[in-house]
Amino acid sequence: MQPFNPNFNHKKYRPFAPVQKADRRWPNKVIEAAPAWCSVDLRDGNQALMEPMTPSQKLEMFKLLVDVGFKEIEVGFPAASQPDFDFVRQLIEEDLIPDDVTIQVLTQAREPLIARSFEALQGARKAIVHLYNSTSTVQREQVFKLSREDIKNIAIQGAKWVRDFAAQQPDTHWQFQYSPESFTGTEIDYAVEVCDAVTEIWQPTPDNKVIINLPATVEVSTPNVYADQIETVCDTIARRDSIIISLHTHNDRGCGVAAAELGILAGADRIEGTLLGNGERTGNMDVVTAAMNLYSQGIDPELDLSNMDRIIATVESCTQLSVHPRHAYAGELVFAAFSGSHQDAINKCMAIDAVKRAEDPEAHWNVAYLPIDPRDLGRNYQQVIRINSQSGKGGIAYVMEQDYGIQMPRWLQVDFSAHVQKRAEDSESEVAPEQIFDTFNSTYLLNQNRVDTYNLSRSHEADQLSVVITTDAGDVTIDGKGKGVLDAFVSGLSDNTGSDMVLIDYSEHTLGQDEQAEAITYVQLSINGSRYCAAGKSEDIVGASLQAVLNALSRSDVRLAQASKLAAV
Ligand code: KIV
Ligand code: ZN
Repeated sequence: MQPFNPNFNHKKYRPFAPVQKADRRWPNKVIEAAPAWCSVDLRDGNQALMEPMTPSQKLEMFKLLVDVGFKEIEVGFPAASQPDFDFVRQLIEEDLIPDDVTIQVLTQAREPLIARSFEALQGARKAIVHLYNSTSTVQREQVFKLSREDIKNIAIQGAKWVRDFAAQQPDTHWQFQYSPESFTGTEIDYAVEVCDAVTEIWQPTPDNKVIINLPATVEVSTPNVYADQIETVCDTIARRDSIIISLHTHNDRGCGVAAAELGILAGADRIEGTLLGNGERTGNMDVVTAAMNLYSQGIDPELDLSNMDRIIATVESCTQLSVHPRHAYAGELVFAAFSGSHQDAINKCMAIDAVKRAEDPEAHWNVAYLPIDPRDLGRNYQQVIRINSQSGKGGIAYVMEQDYGIQMPRWLQVDFSAHVQKRAEDSESEVAPEQIFDTFNSTYLLNQNRVDTYNLSRSHEADQLSVVITTDAGDVTIDGKGKGVLDAFVSGLSDNTGSDMVLIDYSEHTLGQDEQAEAITYVQLSINGSRYCAAGKSEDIVGASLQAVLNALSRSDVRLAQASKLAAV
């Protein structure tokens, strides 16, 4: 195939070499608990912004991260940026770090930068110092033009400086972290060799562990390959019992979360990421998605994401990036159902769920098309059932009942959905609940002619009814006889209009619970062979029924005859 753009040539690329592994165990594992989470919103996320966060935005983000429940927060790269330095100072000097939260700072393996990082951290109760250098083949060969040994020595020297500077500030409880940056592009045995050399300097113990963070700085393979890499490191790294294996994935292939999940199966203990995935290029791994994925499997994510609106608002205002409407769990449309069949299924399942949940609040969620209950994230049904031209009767009926207490019988739902669909097609957009209600009123509750008074007398043989109707042309009285009120009224109207009228369907209920609640009646009337649905409201059921029949008549082209005309006939 000749591409439109001659640069579009896949032969430029080669497949990522898979890991040769005979003892792959992670595919048979299941995630059973949340990992330790570390937010890198204020460092990796912030570094990726066109306009880095202002001091007040950083503080707002920090407070959100604390409230969400992060216990480790990378707050900046203080040696590389004065605003980051100042922010770390502010957190410490204004005592803004809760006792159960540890701040983390990133530093390159250069002495002045490490010194400056420790300067930023002076007075901190506890802190993680995160040292990194690039170890991948492409960085070694093309960027630094250094040998494997040289690159390892950078890490070793950096680890020594970190150890020694920490010793000068003994009042702080230090934890050390090392990242072989571009780990996924690094030969695994070499990455392990460098990490071992670093931990040899730091001498961690099971009570004082170090963090070895294994970044997919650029996502270059399918997540299973990353999992193989992680499992291999876990199996071969020295001092495993004194090491927390941490994952730091980016999303270049769109699999940042998947890679982290498989990495956890492969033995990792900790994940670094950002809320909603801001970060370099396609972003960091999205902690919201990863944590909600656990939640949806019945696992406590150990993060409180229930105030999703606050999370979205804060992330959007701090990053100046908007959340995609289809973003997993958080997007405006992710729980919305426009399609009629989906709405129908959701309606039915939600009704069953309501019954189950009344009996047992922890009943298992099992609703078609909704992997989790949108209410858990503060979403309501209006954001779920959305009406456009693809919607069917189920969704429309659900909206009418939830918002307006209108419980349409099935035959009316079928009739009404055609009217709403037409409105949606005409406007070429979504139809809001108020517009649906407006369509209902203007279609079924026209009240062109109004029941004024009625008189009913009952005998064994039949009901005798006399109804005074107010019309624009004056009052009309309809007298009729039949088996029941409606039969009598329809018969009287037939006589008045000289048309063939049959009541096909009827249904009624009260609108609300109290004694003064209005009644609403729905009817389907055949008039000269065509069917017309309508509704009527009144303080009493008989009045509502008569009005409904009258409204159905108004929808046909048959008109009431005035008394004078009738007399003339
Ligand atoms: O993506 C990356 O490799 C990083 C490191 C500094 C951990 O952000
Ligand atoms: Zn990163």
